[in-house]
Amino acid sequence: MAISIKNEQDIEKMRIAGKLASEVLDFITPYVKPGVTTGALDKLCHDYMVNIQKTIPAPLNYAPHGHVPYPKSICTSVNHQICHGVPGEKILKNGDIVNLDITVIKDGYHGDTSRMFYLGEPSIQARRLCEVTYECMWLGISIVKPGSTLGDIGYVIQTHAEKNGFSVVQEFCGHGIGKKFHEDPQVLHYGKSGTGLKLQTGMIFTIEPMINAGKRFIKQLGDGWTVVTKDHSLSAQFEHTVLVTPTGYEVLTLSEGSPQSPSLIMA
Ligand code: MF3
Ligand code: CO
Ligand code: CO
Repeated sequence: MAISIKNEQDIEKMRIAGKLASEVLDFITPYVKPGVTTGALDKLCHDYMVNIQKTIPAPLNYAPHGHVPYPKSICTSVNHQICHGVPGEKILKNGDIVNLDITVIKDGYHGDTSRMFYLGEPSIQARRLCEVTYECMWLGISIVKPGSTLGDIGYVIQTHAEKNGFSVVQEFCGHGIGKKFHEDPQVLHYGKSGTGLKLQTGMIFTIEPMINAGKRFIKQLGDGWTVVTKDHSLSAQFEHTVLVTPTGYEVLTLSEGSPQSPSLIMA
């Protein structure tokens, strides 16, 4: 239950793993075009990680308690899929939105990040959902500093999502990360300011809000992994891995191709 505080050597390795995870998203971006299958995106990313980066795709055969081993190297969550979409024969088409979630292991350390992609022209609602979700993630990141609480992060994310008429998924959350893929603490994307764990310098965790255009409720598919919205409304997610520094935060999962932080963030 104790939350690990990373030392300078750990942090240096987490910077490397984080950047590599983000670089997989940069690599795959030009391939995310109508007509491609999610399985083809998985294969391209797998080969890039294993052969070019010499990283290990953390999802492949990942089997947390109560789950069958995850069969692929990345997660591809399309439209009403919230998270953990399993790549396969599905062909992406004009107007779809897809989350690609990448976790690499380098030198024993994990980097975990995801972005939304538009296939051709998204609907106005789909675009707005993705933009608000990106703002939600960055609003959460922007208040990270020693003395802030996990409840502060959840509060700003939930407030922004709901102000825009969207809802926050409650069954999945951000997480501590390091030598393990998922460590304590759980980073909820909803909550009350001033409650919960106080952040300390050297903590590393992800912030990865899942925001639905409709109601917050989820349904688990029979493959044991894919999670969809119960009402089949669209869902979006972005994820970064973040270090608490003495003066605030450092985002560890940035690279050349990372989208700019949104204009509502002063960073
Ligand atoms: N990358 C996901 C996260 O952000 C976890 C995926 S687990 C998998 O925590 F097994 F589905 F890959
Ligand atoms: Co994560
Ligand atoms: Co992830």
